[in-house]
Amino acid sequence: MRVVIQEDYAKMSVWAANYIADKINSHKEDRPFVLGLPTGSSPIGVYRELIKLNKAEKVSFSNVVTFNMDEYLGLPKTHDQSYWYFMHDNFFDHLVDMKKENINILNGMTDDPEGECRRYEEKIASYGGIDLFMGGIGVDGHLAFNEPFTSLSSRTGVRSLTTDTRIVNSRFFGNDPDKVPSKALSVGIGTVTDSKEVLVLISGHNKARALAATVEGSVSQKWTCSALQMHNGAIIACDEEACGELTVDTYKYFLDMEKNERL
Ligand code: GLP
Repeated sequence: MRVVIQEDYAKMSVWAANYIADKINSHKEDRPFVLGLPTGSSPIGVYRELIKLNKAEKVSFSNVVTFNMDEYLGLPKTHDQSYWYFMHDNFFDHLVDMKKENINILNGMTDDPEGECRRYEEKIASYGGIDLFMGGIGVDGHLAFNEPFTSLSSRTGVRSLTTDTRIVNSRFFGNDPDKVPSKALSVGIGTVTDSKEVLVLISGHNKARALAATVEGSVSQKWTCSALQMHNGAIIACDEEACGELTVDTYKYFLDMEKNERL
């Protein structure tokens, strides 16, 4: 696992956006570049930077196919807290050459959730898998909506959200946890770790425990993010604030190993 520590959220975002743009630009295969994407506050800075690079013609999305991590069950696309809405509002609508038919987001209004999830997995497979999955994590270490004790080999499916997650996410729902949907559709931990590369953004004091669990903890279904330790191409991009629970030797090790990446 690589851990790239930047001074702050802004630098973390610039570094991650440049990393993704480089990967897209160096993709020379006939098939499209397949990019997995998250929602949440963590990736907003990366989306802003990628939009800038796209507008400056430094990266093109014309040969990129995207798969989003998750979607609330029961929220229509038009709901301003649906992840469909979030992705278009914060990213897709601002790209100059993203093809609408290349955007894949789980349908939270489906009347056949199991079928929807099965088809999502099949569609990912039809492209030959995901080249790079960008993610964020929850305070409890959930990756996509794979809450603690979700199997580390799980596939795309229906997930129940914990009360903790609904409380954390209630900031987008008028601070009322009851307004946060109790279920979601989500890629599985196995879906994420099947990707060739996984890039997870972790920033802020409130993610410090989750970062330590991801990097230093035991591989455990209690912290689903810890599954990344078993992945051969996992990168954590984080900021200084999130490093508060790392041991000093771990922190120093990664600063040294990744000193050329420091912005
Ligand atoms: C939600 C999403 C996750 C996301 C997490 C963290 O629960 N389902 O995919 O990683 O929130 O969000 P934030 O980046 O806002 O802290």
